[in-house]
Amino acid sequence: MSQVTFITNANKVVAAPAEPTSLLRISIREKGGIPFKCGGGLCGTCKCLIEQGREHTDAIKPKERKHLSEAQFAAGWRMACQTFVSGDVSVSWPPPPPKPGSPA
Ligand code: FES
Repeated sequence: MSQVTFITNANKVVAAPAEPTSLLRISIREKGGIPFKCGGGLCGTCKCLIEQGREHTDAIKPKERKHLSEAQFAAGWRMACQTFVSGDVSVSWPPPPPKPGSPA
């Protein structure tokens, strides 16, 4: 068993399988809260920052390169639906943009 910490979701900690598992799958199953739409590497909604445990993530996929730059990968950004984790990681993501018409 390993642990995933969802920093943006009040540091929620959940147990994750020991075998490599999609970060988005863990987030959906455990209500971690990473935003997503397509789940297939197309929309770019699931961008997230691996703040700890980058060594427990797998290789960057070609689909991720359509949405993230080398500088972002270097900083730890990944796409949750394309990233498999096999060990403890901590992840954050940008809060949703304000709705049109809401106060800044
Ligand atoms: S959910 Fe659409 S790219 Fe990951």
